[in-house]
Amino acid sequence: MSATTCGCLGGGQLGRMLALAGHTLGLRFVFWDNNPEAPAGELGKLLVGHYSDPDILQRFAASIDFATYEFENVPVDTAQFLAQRVPVMPPPAALEVSQERLHEKALFRKLDIPTPAHAAIETRRDLTRAADRVGLPAVLKTRRFGYDGKGQIVLKKRSDLRGAWDALGGVPLILEKHVPFDREVSVLAVRDRRGRRAFYPLIENHHRDGILRLSLAPAPALSPRLQTMAEDYATRVLDALEYTGVLAIEFFEYKGKLLANEMAPRVHNSGHWTIEGAETSQFENHMRAIAGLPLGSTSALGHSAMLNLIGTLPETAEILAVPGAHLHLYGKRPGPKRKLGHITVTAATSQERDKTVAVLRAVLSTNKDKL
Ligand SMILES: Nc1ncnc2c1ncn2[C@@H]1O[C@H](COP(=O)(O)OP(=O)(O)OP(=O)(O)O)[C@@H](O)[C@H]1O
Ligand SMILES: [Mg+2]
Repeated sequence: MSATTCGCLGGGQLGRMLALAGHTLGLRFVFWDNNPEAPAGELGKLLVGHYSDPDILQRFAASIDFATYEFENVPVDTAQFLAQRVPVMPPPAALEVSQERLHEKALFRKLDIPTPAHAAIETRRDLTRAADRVGLPAVLKTRRFGYDGKGQIVLKKRSDLRGAWDALGGVPLILEKHVPFDREVSVLAVRDRRGRRAFYPLIENHHRDGILRLSLAPAPALSPRLQTMAEDYATRVLDALEYTGVLAIEFFEYKGKLLANEMAPRVHNSGHWTIEGAETSQFENHMRAIAGLPLGSTSALGHSAMLNLIGTLPETAEILAVPGAHLHLYGKRPGPKRKLGHITVTAATSQERDKTVAVLRAVLSTNKDKL
């Protein structure tokens, strides 16, 4: 009997962690990435080349039983072509929606999921009108290819419009009301091939310079009301897209409401704590879902935190000397603003977790790129 092989579009750290979880279930992996040093390459076969290369597409499709993606900027055409040959999960429609902020917001609106006020921008005049309608402060964003806060400018006053247009104009944009949120939270949901769903407890996320730095799970002072609201919204998206796999939705919590910011049709950075902090990790549950296996429990095991390691790496031994800290390195070269790894903290109580986070922050503060 030959092993089941999963093809993964993208070979970054998410692909690497999917493979680490999938290997224990007996799955094999073929990755496709345009980077010959892709971090997932050590955990499976790596095909190197552009995502529109027809030769690689043939080889990739011929060597796998089903496909997934770990990176949402994979061309939709590639995913659709693959879907004619093998099951592609999550469905290419989820990829298409999440690649364009306006489509994403239109889906949320259609499903009665609140979003920040926004307007589509094509021209300089649109921007002036949208600033009147949406109001300032607002965030001007490119509709496609944004990540880690790239392609975004906060507009505080009218005189900021010109510079922002000079910096971002020329491609389709969106202007969003700047939400003075109480906090940012995300929900991770998973749906299996038969439509059964499971949800992790909501996660509280802290960003700096548009990059996720710290996640706390379950989110402090999480009310059942907020959890239910997030699960209800996620259910609408999962079912509307006939989704299989893990889905993440990022929200702004504002005055007791959840406003959807964006979704990711894949495992998500805010869910890395689940490796040690949940009964079944987001990576394992994604693999279980797409391989047609039963889902595992999404229950949290105590209180967890996840700290991203960005730009530079600390000494491994210094991190491992902290009780309750688990280190995950992605095998990437250091570089400004690059996510190189993360640390998970697991603890029996939230107080103990917060204490350990404080110790780790002190260790990491000797690094140039502080948390
Ligand atoms: N409308 C908004 N109001 C207030 N803050 C915002 C708004 N849009 C974005 N932000 C802030 O910028 C961060 C990054 O924005 P967003 O999630 O849209 O971008 P991204 O580049 O796709 O990020 P990532 O891929 O890392 O999640 C948000 O998590 C939030 O902290
Ligand atoms: Mg985001």
